[in-house]
Amino acid sequence: MSANLEELVEDSVLLQCRVNGKACEREIQPGTSLLDFLRDELRLTGTHMGCMTGHCGACTVMLDGQVAKSCITLAATVQRRQITTIEGLKGADGKLSPVQQAFWDEAGFQCAFCAPGMLLAATELLRDNPDPSEDDIRRAIAGNLCRCTGYQSIVRAVKAAARVQRSAG
Ligand code: FES
Repeated sequence: MSANLEELVEDSVLLQCRVNGKACEREIQPGTSLLDFLRDELRLTGTHMGCMTGHCGACTVMLDGQVAKSCITLAATVQRRQITTIEGLKGADGKLSPVQQAFWDEAGFQCAFCAPGMLLAATELLRDNPDPSEDDIRRAIAGNLCRCTGYQSIVRAVKAAARVQRSAG
């Protein structure tokens, strides 16, 4: 092993966290983004790589239940935290969550590049506000850009998911 590689290995950090409910422990480099950790180490490629500057929202995940941009979050800063990715939204029975189902039913997806971030933002919104106004929905998804500009369908899908969740009680 070259000296440089040895130094890099010595500088690694032991990351312990939970991802989609499962305990996870990995040696990582301190500069690794949470996005790279999820995609490259854990192969959770549903979290998309877009602008890499915190603007587009394609890389959105939840950290302890709050949406966060994984491209601008260092993996080393999520020690002992709970991370939820798009892969973790479906139920234990494998069924789509109400929000996922509503996006499917209401054509909330076009190319679907923005979908993971939109779904997580909508999930957080409906957890905190079961009956959001259209303005509430637009504010909640404001950090997520849809490059197909399919916002009308996305807002309709979030409204439909809210109705389903309320009727389920
Ligand atoms: Fe993270 Fe765009 S890839 S916000």
